[in-house]
Amino acid sequence: MAEDRKRYKLNQSNLHISNRYFGGRFRWSTTPHNAPQTMEEAQALIDELYLSGNPFFSKEMIRLAFEQCQRKPVRGETLYIHDITGAVVEFECQTGEVKMERDQNGVETTYLLLDPVLSYESRAHLKHHLWWAGIRKDRSPFCSLTLLHPSFKFRTDTTEPVDPNPTRPRDKVAQEFLDHSRKWHETDVAQQLVCLLRSHASTHDITKIIGLALGAISYGADDRSDSYIQHALLLTLRNWLLGQGDPAHLACYAQDPGYRSVDRQVLKEHGIDVIDDPQAWLEIDNQSIVFSVAPNVPVKEIVADIARPAIVIWERVGYEDADQEGKMSRSPRVRAMLEQYEVFDFGAEDDPAFCNTVMYIRRCRG
Ligand SMILES: C[S@@+](CC[C@H](N)C(=O)[O-])C[C@H]1O[C@@H](n2cnc3c(N)ncnc32)[C@H](O)[C@@H]1O
Repeated sequence: MAEDRKRYKLNQSNLHISNRYFGGRFRWSTTPHNAPQTMEEAQALIDELYLSGNPFFSKEMIRLAFEQCQRKPVRGETLYIHDITGAVVEFECQTGEVKMERDQNGVETTYLLLDPVLSYESRAHLKHHLWWAGIRKDRSPFCSLTLLHPSFKFRTDTTEPVDPNPTRPRDKVAQEFLDHSRKWHETDVAQQLVCLLRSHASTHDITKIIGLALGAISYGADDRSDSYIQHALLLTLRNWLLGQGDPAHLACYAQDPGYRSVDRQVLKEHGIDVIDDPQAWLEIDNQSIVFSVAPNVPVKEIVADIARPAIVIWERVGYEDADQEGKMSRSPRVRAMLEQYEVFDFGAEDDPAFCNTVMYIRRCRG
């Protein structure tokens, strides 16, 4: 296994990282004297902290956790994060550990744990987790930012790596992206988007476009049309901004842990730079456009805590506060942020490739 680790160069996104992430061992450095004893008490405290305006995410906490991960901690080393109560939580690094699992056909697989990465839990997610897992000694119930180990998956008998997401050849991906983009730019939805931007966003000073969770276009296992089209929308935004001003000051980033080297190369040819988590959160500022569709990371909650981008394009936020069921991003805090924005339906709301997406433009130009 030590050899495999070297050969596959850990955590490089063009490698066969499996879909399995392993939770670490967490414990409070010192258990707070008023630590909740029941699930209800813990849930009430989460709500109390949330409603008091306590940020659940900040660039500072993300940066501190990321810096520790970048140092490539060894197995057994302790990393430190803060939970939402401000208490210090210790995470025991398990990089290099192996876990075995037998599937329903009796085939045994081995998972090799890789360097830790950041993981994000919104208020609803934290409460939901408590609801099904209860209070546990080895886990602070309040970590909105946690660490997880991605893994490589091997067949135990042959030590052959198992690739859950085979990648399509680069040329094919490049051609399909061109075809999808060309077609998409001609659609009413794309034209309506540009029209609205011209009329309502031209006075905003925008220097960055940030696409989040748009999915890898290189996956060979299923139809990736939605991901192609969503990346095409990034190009539409980029072209509009390039037509407006100084190209030297415009960056266009995309973050999705699913990207492989093929995605990176093809997107780069179109001016989209793939960045690795958590870089996108650190880049988002008030002069950004943020675009995300169907993320399985609480994009809205994180953004609402860290910045007021000039424009956000994401699923329409309604009034239901889906708290327990894991619908993570329709919270009061996200709604409060969006009160500063005007909402525009550019025709994507009914388009299956965009999952109820609308555009929010900040009213105040500052
Ligand atoms: C349900 S898929 C949606 C993909 C695509 N937007 C679509 O509509 O088909 C959720 C995506 O969120 C991505 N994701 C998970 N964690 C992320 C993170 N920290 N930053 C960015 N994307 C993330 C996953 O890799 C996955 O591609």
